[in-house]
Amino acid sequence: MIGRFLSGAKNRLLPPSVPFRFFTAAALFYVLFWAVLFWKAGEVAGYRLGSGPVLALIHLATLGVLTMTVIGASLQLLSVATRKAFRGVWICRLLSWVYIPGFIVLAYGMFANWYPAMLIGAGFAGLGLLIFFFLIIDNIRGVRGMAAIMAHCWASMLFLFAAVAIGILLVVNLDYGLDLDQISLASSHFILAIFGFMSLIAMGFSYILVPMFAIAPAPSEKNGRLSIACNVVAIIIALAGINSHQDWLLMVADILGMVGVGFYLYGMITVYKTRMRKRLGTPFVLIRVSWVMLPLALIWGAVGIGGYWPQNGYALFALLAIIGWLLTFLNGVLQRIIPFLGSMHGSNRGGPLLASSMADMRLFDLNAVGHLAGLVFVALGIIIDNDTVIRLGAGLGFIGGLGLFSYVVIVVGLLSRKQRESASGPL
Ligand code: HEM
Repeated sequence: MIGRFLSGAKNRLLPPSVPFRFFTAAALFYVLFWAVLFWKAGEVAGYRLGSGPVLALIHLATLGVLTMTVIGASLQLLSVATRKAFRGVWICRLLSWVYIPGFIVLAYGMFANWYPAMLIGAGFAGLGLLIFFFLIIDNIRGVRGMAAIMAHCWASMLFLFAAVAIGILLVVNLDYGLDLDQISLASSHFILAIFGFMSLIAMGFSYILVPMFAIAPAPSEKNGRLSIACNVVAIIIALAGINSHQDWLLMVADILGMVGVGFYLYGMITVYKTRMRKRLGTPFVLIRVSWVMLPLALIWGAVGIGGYWPQNGYALFALLAIIGWLLTFLNGVLQRIIPFLGSMHGSNRGGPLLASSMADMRLFDLNAVGHLAGLVFVALGIIIDNDTVIRLGAGLGFIGGLGLFSYVVIVVGLLSRKQRESASGPL
Protein backbone atom coordinates (compact mmCIF):
# COMPACT_ATOMS: atom_id res chain seq x y z
CA MET A 1 0.00 0.00 0.00
CA ILE A 2 2.82 2.37 0.87
CA GLY A 3 4.54 1.62 -2.44
CA ARG A 4 1.28 2.24 -4.26
CA PHE A 5 0.89 5.48 -2.34
CA LEU A 6 4.31 6.83 -3.19
CA SER A 7 4.42 5.58 -6.77
CA GLY A 8 1.46 7.68 -7.85
CA ALA A 9 1.98 10.52 -5.43
CA LYS A 10 3.64 13.07 -7.66
CA ASN A 11 1.16 12.83 -10.51
CA ARG A 12 -1.90 13.31 -8.36
CA LEU A 13 -0.70 16.12 -6.11
CA LEU A 14 -2.87 19.23 -6.15
CA PRO A 15 -1.23 22.57 -6.93
CA PRO A 16 0.83 23.45 -3.82
CA SER A 17 -1.20 26.60 -3.19
CA VAL A 18 -4.20 24.46 -2.19
CA PRO A 19 -2.76 22.45 0.72
CA PHE A 20 -0.26 25.12 1.72
CA ARG A 21 -2.92 27.80 2.21
CA PHE A 22 -4.52 25.53 4.81
CA PHE A 23 -1.19 24.63 6.41
CA THR A 24 -0.12 28.30 6.57
CA ALA A 25 -3.46 29.28 8.09
CA ALA A 26 -3.19 26.39 10.59
CA ALA A 27 0.33 27.45 11.65
CA LEU A 28 -0.81 31.07 12.01
CA PHE A 29 -3.86 30.14 14.10
CA TYR A 30 -1.63 27.88 16.19
CA VAL A 31 0.52 30.92 17.13
CA LEU A 32 -2.64 32.94 17.74
CA PHE A 33 -4.01 30.15 19.92
CA TRP A 34 -1.05 30.37 22.32
CA ALA A 35 -1.20 34.18 22.25
CA VAL A 36 -4.88 34.22 23.26
CA LEU A 37 -4.19 31.56 25.90
CA PHE A 38 -1.44 33.80 27.31
CA TRP A 39 -3.80 36.77 27.34
CA LYS A 40 -6.81 35.00 28.84
CA ALA A 41 -4.92 32.52 31.07
CA GLY A 42 -7.07 33.48 34.06
CA GLU A 43 -10.29 32.21 32.43
CA VAL A 44 -9.11 28.78 31.31
CA ALA A 45 -8.91 26.53 34.36
CA GLY A 46 -12.49 26.97 35.55
CA TYR A 47 -14.17 26.94 32.11
CA ARG A 48 -17.09 24.62 31.55
CA LEU A 49 -19.66 26.11 29.15
CA GLY A 50 -20.76 29.20 27.23
CA SER A 51 -19.35 31.72 24.77
CA GLY A 52 -16.45 34.09 25.43
CA PRO A 53 -12.65 34.02 25.02
CA VAL A 54 -12.25 30.38 26.12
CA LEU A 55 -14.79 29.17 23.55
CA ALA A 56 -12.90 31.16 20.90
CA LEU A 57 -9.69 29.58 22.18
CA ILE A 58 -11.16 26.07 21.88
CA HIS A 59 -12.20 26.76 18.28
CA LEU A 60 -8.88 28.41 17.42
CA ALA A 61 -7.35 25.04 18.30
CA THR A 62 -10.05 22.81 16.83
CA LEU A 63 -11.37 24.65 13.75
CA GLY A 64 -8.34 26.91 13.24
CA VAL A 65 -5.50 24.43 13.65
CA LEU A 66 -6.78 20.84 13.72
CA THR A 67 -9.55 20.99 11.12
CA MET A 68 -7.49 23.34 8.93
CA THR A 69 -4.58 20.85 8.92
CA VAL A 70 -6.90 17.93 8.27
CA ILE A 71 -8.46 19.72 5.29
CA GLY A 72 -5.03 20.49 3.78
CA ALA A 73 -3.70 16.98 4.42
CA SER A 74 -6.85 15.20 3.19
CA LEU A 75 -7.07 17.20 -0.01
CA GLN A 76 -3.43 16.48 -0.71
CA LEU A 77 -3.05 12.89 0.40
CA LEU A 78 -6.43 11.25 -0.06
CA SER A 79 -6.50 11.57 -3.84
CA VAL A 80 -3.06 9.96 -3.89
CA ALA A 81 -4.15 7.10 -1.61
CA THR A 82 -7.48 6.46 -3.37
CA ARG A 83 -5.99 7.09 -6.85
CA LYS A 84 -8.96 9.34 -7.63
CA ALA A 85 -8.52 13.01 -8.39
CA PHE A 86 -10.70 15.46 -6.47
CA ARG A 87 -13.65 16.89 -8.36
CA GLY A 88 -12.29 20.22 -9.56
CA VAL A 89 -9.44 22.13 -7.95
CA TRP A 90 -11.67 25.20 -7.98
CA ILE A 91 -13.97 23.54 -5.43
CA CYS A 92 -10.96 23.05 -3.12
CA ARG A 93 -10.11 26.73 -3.55
CA LEU A 94 -13.74 27.75 -2.99
CA LEU A 95 -13.68 25.72 0.23
CA SER A 96 -10.79 27.81 1.54
CA TRP A 97 -12.50 31.10 0.61
CA VAL A 98 -15.68 30.10 2.42
CA TYR A 99 -14.19 28.26 5.38
CA ILE A 100 -11.26 30.44 6.45
CA PRO A 101 -13.11 33.80 6.61
CA GLY A 102 -16.17 32.05 8.08
CA PHE A 103 -14.02 30.59 10.83
CA ILE A 104 -12.41 33.98 11.58
CA VAL A 105 -15.83 35.65 11.95
CA LEU A 106 -17.08 32.76 14.12
CA ALA A 107 -14.03 32.85 16.39
CA TYR A 108 -14.26 36.63 16.75
CA GLY A 109 -17.99 36.39 17.50
CA MET A 110 -17.30 33.77 20.19
CA PHE A 111 -14.47 35.84 21.66
CA ALA A 112 -16.52 39.04 21.82
CA ASN A 113 -19.84 37.36 22.72
CA TRP A 114 -21.18 38.96 19.54
CA TYR A 115 -24.03 36.67 18.51
CA PRO A 116 -24.79 37.98 14.98
CA ALA A 117 -21.11 37.43 14.07
CA MET A 118 -21.26 33.95 15.61
CA LEU A 119 -24.31 33.12 13.50
CA ILE A 120 -22.82 34.41 10.25
CA GLY A 121 -19.44 32.82 10.97
CA ALA A 122 -21.08 29.51 11.91
CA GLY A 123 -23.05 29.60 8.64
CA PHE A 124 -19.98 30.16 6.47
CA ALA A 125 -17.64 27.85 8.41
CA GLY A 126 -20.40 25.21 8.39
CA LEU A 127 -20.85 25.65 4.63
CA GLY A 128 -17.10 25.26 4.15
CA LEU A 129 -17.12 22.05 6.18
CA LEU A 130 -20.11 20.81 4.15
CA ILE A 131 -18.10 21.35 0.95
CA PHE A 132 -15.21 19.47 2.56
CA PHE A 133 -17.59 16.68 3.59
CA PHE A 134 -18.91 16.24 0.04
CA LEU A 135 -15.42 16.44 -1.51
CA ILE A 136 -14.17 13.65 0.73
CA ILE A 137 -17.27 11.47 0.42
CA ASP A 138 -17.15 11.87 -3.36
CA ASN A 139 -13.49 10.83 -3.34
CA ILE A 140 -13.79 7.77 -1.09
CA ARG A 141 -17.09 6.49 -2.56
CA GLY A 142 -16.57 3.15 -4.33
CA VAL A 143 -12.87 2.88 -3.43
CA ARG A 144 -11.77 -0.77 -3.35
CA GLY A 145 -9.22 -1.97 -0.83
CA MET A 146 -7.88 -0.15 2.25
CA ALA A 147 -11.16 -1.03 3.99
CA ALA A 148 -10.00 -0.05 7.47
CA ILE A 149 -8.69 3.35 6.33
CA MET A 150 -11.82 4.02 4.28
CA ALA A 151 -13.99 3.06 7.27
CA HIS A 152 -12.10 5.63 9.36
CA CYS A 153 -12.72 8.29 6.69
CA TRP A 154 -16.43 7.47 6.37
CA ALA A 155 -17.01 7.46 10.11
CA SER A 156 -15.00 10.61 10.62
CA MET A 157 -16.93 12.50 7.93
CA LEU A 158 -20.33 11.41 9.24
CA PHE A 159 -19.35 12.47 12.75
CA LEU A 160 -18.08 15.79 11.37
CA PHE A 161 -21.44 16.37 9.71
CA ALA A 162 -23.26 15.72 12.99
CA ALA A 163 -20.77 17.82 15.01
CA VAL A 164 -21.22 20.82 12.69
CA ALA A 165 -25.01 20.51 12.70
CA ILE A 166 -24.99 20.48 16.53
CA GLY A 167 -22.42 23.33 16.57
CA ILE A 168 -24.76 25.52 14.54
CA LEU A 169 -27.68 24.51 16.78
CA LEU A 170 -25.59 25.48 19.82
CA VAL A 171 -25.00 28.93 18.36
CA VAL A 172 -28.72 29.36 17.58
CA ASN A 173 -29.57 28.18 21.09
CA LEU A 174 -27.14 30.67 22.64
CA ASP A 175 -28.57 33.45 20.48
CA TYR A 176 -32.32 32.74 20.58
CA GLY A 177 -32.61 30.62 23.75
CA LEU A 178 -34.49 27.71 22.12
CA ASP A 179 -34.74 26.02 25.50
CA LEU A 180 -32.59 23.10 24.37
CA ASP A 181 -30.39 21.21 26.83
CA GLN A 182 -27.17 23.16 26.14
CA ILE A 183 -25.02 20.93 28.39
CA SER A 184 -26.02 17.67 26.66
CA LEU A 185 -25.73 19.31 23.24
CA ALA A 186 -22.29 20.76 24.01
CA SER A 187 -21.06 17.45 25.42
CA SER A 188 -22.39 15.56 22.36
CA HIS A 189 -20.69 18.16 20.14
CA PHE A 190 -17.43 17.60 22.05
CA ILE A 191 -17.55 13.79 21.66
CA LEU A 192 -18.55 13.98 17.98
CA ALA A 193 -15.98 16.62 17.05
CA ILE A 194 -12.95 15.58 19.13
CA PHE A 195 -13.29 11.80 19.27
CA GLY A 196 -15.59 11.20 16.29
CA PHE A 197 -14.28 13.51 13.60
CA MET A 198 -10.74 14.50 14.57
CA SER A 199 -9.47 11.39 16.38
CA LEU A 200 -10.82 8.96 13.79
CA ILE A 201 -9.33 10.86 10.84
CA ALA A 202 -6.01 11.14 12.71
CA MET A 203 -6.02 7.41 13.39
CA GLY A 204 -7.08 6.56 9.82
CA PHE A 205 -4.30 8.67 8.30
CA SER A 206 -1.81 7.16 10.75
CA TYR A 207 -2.20 3.82 8.94
CA ILE A 208 -0.86 5.49 5.76
CA LEU A 209 1.52 8.12 7.08
CA VAL A 210 3.31 6.42 9.97
CA PRO A 211 4.47 3.36 7.95
CA MET A 212 5.40 5.68 5.07
CA PHE A 213 7.52 8.00 7.22
CA ALA A 214 9.06 5.19 9.28
CA ILE A 215 9.53 2.90 6.23
CA ALA A 216 7.76 -0.06 7.76
CA PRO A 217 5.06 -2.57 6.80
CA ALA A 218 1.52 -1.27 7.41
CA PRO A 219 -0.27 -2.79 10.43
CA SER A 220 -2.67 -5.61 9.72
CA GLU A 221 -6.02 -4.70 8.18
CA LYS A 222 -7.78 -6.68 10.91
CA ASN A 223 -6.19 -4.48 13.57
CA GLY A 224 -7.53 -1.31 11.91
CA ARG A 225 -10.99 -2.82 11.49
CA LEU A 226 -11.24 -3.91 15.13
CA SER A 227 -10.09 -0.47 16.24
CA ILE A 228 -12.60 1.48 14.15
CA ALA A 229 -15.45 -0.89 15.08
CA CYS A 230 -14.81 -0.43 18.82
CA ASN A 231 -14.37 3.33 18.46
CA VAL A 232 -17.53 3.92 16.43
CA VAL A 233 -19.66 1.84 18.80
CA ALA A 234 -18.01 3.64 21.76
CA ILE A 235 -18.94 7.06 20.34
CA ILE A 236 -22.54 6.01 19.72
CA ILE A 237 -22.84 4.62 23.27
CA ALA A 238 -21.27 7.82 24.66
CA LEU A 239 -23.87 9.91 22.82
CA ALA A 240 -26.63 7.69 24.21
CA GLY A 241 -25.14 8.06 27.71
CA ILE A 242 -24.90 11.85 27.50
CA ASN A 243 -28.42 12.34 26.22
CA SER A 244 -30.07 9.83 28.58
CA HIS A 245 -27.95 11.06 31.52
CA GLN A 246 -26.77 7.50 32.22
CA ASP A 247 -23.21 7.61 33.52
CA TRP A 248 -22.79 3.83 33.29
CA LEU A 249 -23.27 4.08 29.52
CA LEU A 250 -20.54 6.71 29.40
CA MET A 251 -18.26 4.40 31.37
CA VAL A 252 -18.97 1.52 28.96
CA ALA A 253 -18.20 3.87 26.06
CA ASP A 254 -14.96 5.01 27.67
CA ILE A 255 -13.80 1.43 28.28
CA LEU A 256 -14.72 0.38 24.72
CA GLY A 257 -12.90 3.47 23.44
CA MET A 258 -9.83 2.35 25.39
CA VAL A 259 -10.04 -1.06 23.68
CA GLY A 260 -10.33 0.65 20.25
CA VAL A 261 -7.41 2.93 21.06
CA GLY A 262 -5.51 -0.13 22.33
CA PHE A 263 -5.86 -1.80 18.90
CA TYR A 264 -4.72 1.42 17.21
CA LEU A 265 -1.70 1.81 19.48
CA TYR A 266 -0.80 -1.86 19.13
CA GLY A 267 -0.74 -1.35 15.33
CA MET A 268 1.37 1.79 15.66
CA ILE A 269 3.84 0.17 18.09
CA THR A 270 4.22 -2.75 15.65
CA VAL A 271 4.99 -0.27 12.86
CA TYR A 272 7.46 1.54 15.07
CA LYS A 273 9.27 -1.67 16.06
CA THR A 274 9.52 -3.03 12.51
CA ARG A 275 10.63 0.24 10.92
CA MET A 276 13.64 0.38 8.60
CA ARG A 277 14.34 4.08 9.19
CA LYS A 278 15.89 4.04 12.63
CA ARG A 279 16.28 7.77 13.29
CA LEU A 280 12.87 9.36 13.05
CA GLY A 281 13.79 12.68 14.62
CA THR A 282 11.76 15.38 16.31
CA PRO A 283 8.40 14.76 14.57
CA PHE A 284 8.23 11.29 16.06
CA VAL A 285 9.01 12.56 19.54
CA LEU A 286 5.79 14.57 19.22
CA ILE A 287 3.86 11.70 17.68
CA ARG A 288 4.98 9.30 20.44
CA VAL A 289 4.01 11.79 23.16
CA SER A 290 0.58 12.11 21.55
CA TRP A 291 0.20 8.31 21.68
CA VAL A 292 0.64 8.51 25.46
CA MET A 293 -1.76 11.44 25.80
CA LEU A 294 -4.67 9.73 24.01
CA PRO A 295 -5.11 6.85 26.50
CA LEU A 296 -4.35 9.27 29.33
CA ALA A 297 -7.28 11.46 28.20
CA LEU A 298 -9.56 8.41 28.22
CA ILE A 299 -8.37 7.31 31.67
CA TRP A 300 -8.91 10.85 33.00
CA GLY A 301 -12.35 10.81 31.33
CA ALA A 302 -13.18 7.61 33.25
CA VAL A 303 -12.11 9.28 36.50
CA GLY A 304 -14.55 12.11 35.70
CA ILE A 305 -17.39 9.76 34.82
CA GLY A 306 -16.81 8.04 38.16
CA GLY A 307 -17.35 11.44 39.83
CA TYR A 308 -13.76 11.87 41.05
CA TRP A 309 -12.70 14.95 39.09
CA PRO A 310 -11.37 17.81 41.19
CA GLN A 311 -12.51 21.37 40.51
CA ASN A 312 -10.66 21.86 37.20
CA GLY A 313 -11.09 18.28 35.99
CA TYR A 314 -12.95 19.18 32.81
CA ALA A 315 -10.32 21.73 31.71
CA LEU A 316 -7.61 19.09 32.22
CA PHE A 317 -9.62 16.55 30.20
CA ALA A 318 -10.06 19.03 27.32
CA LEU A 319 -6.36 19.90 27.52
CA LEU A 320 -5.26 16.23 27.38
CA ALA A 321 -7.55 15.48 24.42
CA ILE A 322 -7.10 18.68 22.40
CA ILE A 323 -3.53 19.85 23.08
CA GLY A 324 -2.01 16.63 24.46
CA TRP A 325 -3.31 14.15 21.88
CA LEU A 326 -4.54 15.99 18.78
CA LEU A 327 -2.39 19.14 18.59
CA THR A 328 0.77 17.20 19.52
CA PHE A 329 0.02 14.52 16.93
CA LEU A 330 -0.77 17.00 14.16
CA ASN A 331 2.31 19.09 14.95
CA GLY A 332 4.39 15.94 14.49
CA VAL A 333 2.57 15.09 11.26
CA LEU A 334 2.96 18.66 9.95
CA GLN A 335 6.69 18.51 10.71
CA ARG A 336 6.93 15.48 8.38
CA ILE A 337 4.35 16.45 5.77
CA ILE A 338 5.52 19.98 5.05
CA PRO A 339 9.12 19.07 4.10
CA PHE A 340 7.80 15.99 2.25
CA LEU A 341 5.32 17.98 0.15
CA GLY A 342 7.77 20.84 -0.20
CA SER A 343 10.38 18.52 -1.68
CA MET A 344 7.82 16.81 -3.93
CA HIS A 345 6.50 20.09 -5.28
CA GLY A 346 9.94 21.65 -5.37
CA SER A 347 11.31 18.77 -7.41
CA ASN A 348 8.57 19.04 -10.01
CA ARG A 349 10.84 21.14 -12.12
CA GLY A 350 14.58 21.28 -11.67
CA GLY A 351 16.46 19.10 -9.17
CA PRO A 352 15.02 17.49 -6.02
CA LEU A 353 14.77 19.62 -2.93
CA LEU A 354 16.15 18.30 0.37
CA ALA A 355 14.12 19.00 3.51
CA SER A 356 17.18 20.47 5.23
CA SER A 357 17.89 22.77 2.27
CA MET A 358 14.42 24.33 2.42
CA ALA A 359 14.66 25.82 5.90
CA ASP A 360 16.57 25.41 9.15
CA MET A 361 15.38 22.12 10.70
CA ARG A 362 16.12 23.50 14.17
CA LEU A 363 12.88 25.45 13.82
CA PHE A 364 11.15 22.10 14.32
CA ASP A 365 13.12 21.47 17.50
CA LEU A 366 12.03 24.88 18.74
CA ASN A 367 8.45 24.00 17.83
CA ALA A 368 8.59 20.65 19.64
CA VAL A 369 10.26 21.97 22.81
CA GLY A 370 7.89 24.96 22.98
CA HIS A 371 4.82 22.81 22.36
CA LEU A 372 5.73 20.16 24.94
CA ALA A 373 6.80 22.72 27.54
CA GLY A 374 3.55 24.59 26.85
CA LEU A 375 1.55 21.40 27.35
CA VAL A 376 3.30 20.55 30.63
CA PHE A 377 3.04 24.03 32.17
CA VAL A 378 -0.55 24.65 31.10
CA ALA A 379 -1.50 21.23 32.54
CA LEU A 380 0.35 22.03 35.76
CA GLY A 381 -1.26 25.47 35.94
CA ILE A 382 -4.72 23.91 35.57
CA ILE A 383 -3.98 21.25 38.22
CA ILE A 384 -2.68 23.72 40.82
CA ASP A 385 -5.10 26.42 39.62
CA ASN A 386 -2.39 28.99 39.00
CA ASP A 387 -2.82 31.54 36.18
CA THR A 388 0.86 32.50 36.16
CA VAL A 389 1.94 28.91 35.43
CA ILE A 390 -0.69 28.66 32.65
CA ARG A 391 0.60 31.96 31.24
CA LEU A 392 4.19 30.67 31.37
CA GLY A 393 3.11 27.56 29.44
CA ALA A 394 1.27 29.68 26.87
CA GLY A 395 4.36 31.86 26.42
CA LEU A 396 6.55 28.81 25.77
CA GLY A 397 3.95 27.36 23.42
CA PHE A 398 3.84 30.68 21.57
CA ILE A 399 7.62 30.56 20.99
CA GLY A 400 7.26 26.97 19.76
CA GLY A 401 4.42 28.07 17.48
CA LEU A 402 6.64 30.72 15.93
CA GLY A 403 9.12 27.93 15.07
CA LEU A 404 6.50 26.01 13.07
CA PHE A 405 5.04 29.14 11.48
CA SER A 406 8.48 30.38 10.37
CA TYR A 407 9.25 27.00 8.76
CA VAL A 408 5.95 26.98 6.84
CA VAL A 409 6.39 30.58 5.66
CA ILE A 410 9.95 29.88 4.46
CA VAL A 411 8.85 26.78 2.52
CA VAL A 412 5.88 28.61 0.98
CA GLY A 413 8.19 31.48 -0.05
CA LEU A 414 10.63 29.02 -1.58
CA LEU A 415 7.94 27.16 -3.50
CA SER A 416 6.43 30.35 -4.88
CA ARG A 417 9.89 31.57 -5.94
CA LYS A 418 10.53 28.26 -7.70
CA GLN A 419 7.14 28.43 -9.36
CA ARG A 420 7.72 31.98 -10.55
CA GLU A 421 11.16 31.03 -11.87
CA SER A 422 9.68 28.24 -13.92
CA ALA A 423 6.96 30.74 -14.98
CA SER A 424 4.14 28.27 -15.00
CA GLY A 425 1.17 30.25 -13.77
CA PRO A 426 0.03 31.09 -10.27
CA LEU A 427 1.24 28.98 -7.34
C1 HEM B 1 -19.26 25.42 12.22
C2 HEM B 1 -18.78 24.61 13.11
C3 HEM B 1 -18.92 24.75 14.61
C4 HEM B 1 -19.71 25.57 15.36
C5 HEM B 1 -20.70 26.58 14.88
C6 HEM B 1 -19.41 25.31 16.75
C7 HEM B 1 -20.02 25.93 17.84
C8 HEM B 1 -19.81 25.64 19.16
C9 HEM B 1 -20.49 26.26 20.27
C10 HEM B 1 -21.55 27.33 20.17
C11 HEM B 1 -20.02 25.70 21.40
C12 HEM B 1 -20.36 26.14 22.86
C13 HEM B 1 -21.32 25.36 23.55
C14 HEM B 1 -21.55 25.95 24.92
O1 HEM B 1 -20.68 25.83 25.76
O2 HEM B 1 -22.58 26.55 25.14
C15 HEM B 1 -19.01 24.75 21.03
C16 HEM B 1 -18.24 23.98 21.91
C17 HEM B 1 -17.18 23.21 21.52
N1 HEM B 1 -16.79 22.93 20.23
FE1 HEM B 1 -17.60 23.63 18.53
N2 HEM B 1 -18.46 24.34 16.82
C18 HEM B 1 -18.12 23.98 15.54
C19 HEM B 1 -17.20 23.02 15.17
C20 HEM B 1 -16.35 22.37 16.02
C21 HEM B 1 -15.33 21.43 15.62
C22 HEM B 1 -15.07 20.97 14.17
C23 HEM B 1 -14.69 21.05 16.74
C24 HEM B 1 -13.56 20.07 16.90
C25 HEM B 1 -12.83 19.56 15.94
C26 HEM B 1 -15.34 21.72 17.87
C27 HEM B 1 -14.99 21.58 19.20
C28 HEM B 1 -15.70 22.10 20.27
C29 HEM B 1 -15.38 21.83 21.66
C30 HEM B 1 -14.23 20.96 22.15
C31 HEM B 1 -16.33 22.51 22.44
C32 HEM B 1 -16.46 22.55 23.97
C33 HEM B 1 -17.65 21.69 24.34
C34 HEM B 1 -17.88 21.66 25.81
O3 HEM B 1 -17.85 22.69 26.46
O4 HEM B 1 -18.11 20.56 26.32
N3 HEM B 1 -16.33 22.53 17.38
N4 HEM B 1 -18.92 24.72 19.65
